[in-house]
Amino acid sequence: MVNYVTKKSNKLMPSKAMKKIAHLDNKRIYKEAAKNPIKFWEKLATDGLQWEKKWTKAYEQKLPYFKWFKGGKINFSKNCLDRHLENQPDKLALVWIPEPTKEKPVKLTYRQLHEKVCKFANVLRKNKIKKGDVISIYLPMVPEALIAMLACTRIGAIHSVVFSAFSSDALKARIQDGKAKILITADGYYRRGEKEDLLTKAKQAIKSTTVKKVIVVSRLKKKLPSPKSKFLDFNKELESAEPTCEPEIMNSEDPLFILYTSGTTGKPKGVIHDTGGYATQAYWTAKWNFNLRDDDVMWCTADVGWVTGHTYAFYGPLLNGATTLIYEGSPDFPDTGRWWKIIQDNKVTVFYTAPTAIRMLQKCDPKIIKKHNLKSLRILGTVGEPIDRDAWMWYFKKVGGSRCPVIDTWWQTETGGTLINALPGIGPFIPTVSGISFPGTKHIIVDEKGKQIKKPNVTGNLVQVPPLAPGMLHGVWKNPKKYKETYWKRFKKYYDTSDGAFLTKGGLIRITGRTDDVMKVAGHRMTTAELENAINDHPRINETAVVPVPHKVKGEVPVAFVILKGKKDATKINPEQLEKEVKKLTDQKIGPTSRPAKVFIVPALPKTRSGKIMRRILKALLIDEEPKGLSTLLNPKSVEEIKGIIKSSQ
Ligand code: WTA
Repeated sequence: MVNYVTKKSNKLMPSKAMKKIAHLDNKRIYKEAAKNPIKFWEKLATDGLQWEKKWTKAYEQKLPYFKWFKGGKINFSKNCLDRHLENQPDKLALVWIPEPTKEKPVKLTYRQLHEKVCKFANVLRKNKIKKGDVISIYLPMVPEALIAMLACTRIGAIHSVVFSAFSSDALKARIQDGKAKILITADGYYRRGEKEDLLTKAKQAIKSTTVKKVIVVSRLKKKLPSPKSKFLDFNKELESAEPTCEPEIMNSEDPLFILYTSGTTGKPKGVIHDTGGYATQAYWTAKWNFNLRDDDVMWCTADVGWVTGHTYAFYGPLLNGATTLIYEGSPDFPDTGRWWKIIQDNKVTVFYTAPTAIRMLQKCDPKIIKKHNLKSLRILGTVGEPIDRDAWMWYFKKVGGSRCPVIDTWWQTETGGTLINALPGIGPFIPTVSGISFPGTKHIIVDEKGKQIKKPNVTGNLVQVPPLAPGMLHGVWKNPKKYKETYWKRFKKYYDTSDGAFLTKGGLIRITGRTDDVMKVAGHRMTTAELENAINDHPRINETAVVPVPHKVKGEVPVAFVILKGKKDATKINPEQLEKEVKKLTDQKIGPTSRPAKVFIVPALPKTRSGKIMRRILKALLIDEEPKGLSTLLNPKSVEEIKGIIKSSQ
C-alpha cells in the first residue's frame, strides 16, 4: 500500500502546538495517550479550554453511563468567542458566501460575532428562555444559524438543529420530541437559482406543538405571518437588544445540544451531547486533524443540519480561533466551478467534504477545476461514507495538487467529533483506509460474540473500548432504553458503532460500512424503516421493504418494494404514477434526500418463518448476485417472482 505525502506533510505537523500545549512530540503522542487516556484528555481539556472551575473528577464510568470532567464549570460560547477577543478581536471568525453572485459575502470578526451572539442571547432571555430549555433551529446555511446556536450555548439552552431540507412532518416530530419552546427559522433560501420556501413548512410543523414563538430570518424579505406577538423578525429583534450578556455557567456534563439521527427503528432519536467533553473533543480533533493555525481559513462544506456541520463548520474552528467559511447553494450552480472559485477567492487552506461531492465533481469537465488556483489548500478531509480509491486519488491529485494529505475521518453523530483517521505529519495516508484511533481513544474489531479479531483482512464489528472518548453521546433524549439497546446491548463492555471494519496488514482500520439498517445516501444518514413507515402511509400500499443499492455518485440509494392492498385492484394501478406518488410521500414525510430511486410493485416479500423481511435477498437480486439463505424462507417462490419483475424493468 502506498503512503501518500507523509514526507511533505511532515512539514505540516502541528508539532509546535503539540509541544506547547500537550507537551508531547509527534512520535510520542499515541504512546503517551494510550498509557493513561484519562490523564491525557485531562491535559488536553486544561490546555485547550477555559474553565470557570476545575473538575473534581476527570472521568467516572458506570457503563453504559459515564461522565467527563465531573464538577467542572464552563461556558461553551465563552470558549468559542470571548477568549479570542483579547488576542484577535478583529480576526475574521466567519465568512459567508451567498448564492446570488450579486450579493456580497458577509464577514464577521470575532468582536462582531460576539456582539451579535450576546444580543441574540438577550433576545432569547427576553422571550423567557432559560437554562435547560430546548430550542429548535430550522435554518439553512446562513450566519444566523451560527449566531442562534452560540446564543443558545451562552444561556445554557439546548439547541436542536433540524436539516432545512427535511419536511414539515420531520420537523414536527423533532419539535415534539424535544418539547421546544421556540423555533428559529428563515423565510427561505437560495438553491440552484431558485427561492426555496422554509416558512410554510415551519408554520405547518408548529401546529399543536409546544412552540410559543417563531423567530424568522428574513433571507428572502417576505412579509412575516401574523400574529406579530408570535412571529418575530430575527435581525430586528437582535438589533434592538443589549450588546452584553453574562454567560450562564454550566456544569461540564450539562447537555449542550441534541441532534436527531436515524436509528434502526423508524423514529429518529435525539442524540445528547454534553458541554465540557464535547468541547474538548471538538477543539482537539479540529486542531490536530486539520493542523489548524492562526492564519487558516477552514471550509467544511457540510450543512449545519448534520453533525459535521455542528463540529467542523462551526464549533471546532471557532474554539480554535480560526476563520470558518460557509456558503449557501450547491456545488454545481451557477456552474461546477463554484467550490473551486470559493477556494480560490477566499484562499481556503483546509477543505473538508464528503465522498459523494468528490465523486460528483470528479465527473465534471476537467477544464473547470484547472482554471482555478487551489494552491492555498494545505489539508483535505473527507467524511461520511467510505471513499473509493478512484475518488481519493482524484481528490489528492486534482484538488490537493499531490501536496495535501487527505484525512479520511471516520466518526458518527453519536461520537460528536472524529475518531479514526491519520493525522497530518504522522500519516500514513492510504486511499480507502481511515487509519488509527485518535490519541486517547481505542477502537477494536470484534466478532459477533464480542471477541477481538486481531487478524488482518477479517471483517468484524467496530467497537470503542472505554474509557469513552469525551465527545461521545450521553444518551438518547428521553429514551434511556433506546440508548442502552442501540449502543450497549450486543457487546456490553464496548460501545457498538454498528459499522463493519477490518484491519490492514499494517494494523490500520478500514471501514466497510453499516451493519444495521442505516443507509448513507449522498452522505445523508437515514434508515430503511423510516422510509418504509413513510411509504406505508400510501392508501394503496400494504407493505414495503426498502433496501440500499450501490450508486456511482451517491454511494448508495434506496429502492422500494411494495405490496399493494387488495389484489384485484393491482392491475388497475399505473406503476409510474404510483412511483411518483411514493416519491411525493417520502418528500413530504422526510425530505427529498430520502426519495427512492425506484419503486417495484411485487406480489410478496421474501420473509423468514418468523416474519422478518429478508432485505439482504432483495439487495442481492438488485445487484444481480445469487441470493443466499433461501432455505430459511417462508415463501421462496417470491424470490423468483421478484427477480422476474426486476429483469422486466431493465
Ligand atoms: C459512516 C457522520 C466510512 C459510518 C460524521 C458511520 C464513514 C456513519 C466515514 C455515521 C468514513 C462516517 N468512512 N464510513 N470516513 N465517516 N462514515 O451519523 O457508517 O451522519 O456509522 O455522521 O457514516 O453517519 P453520521
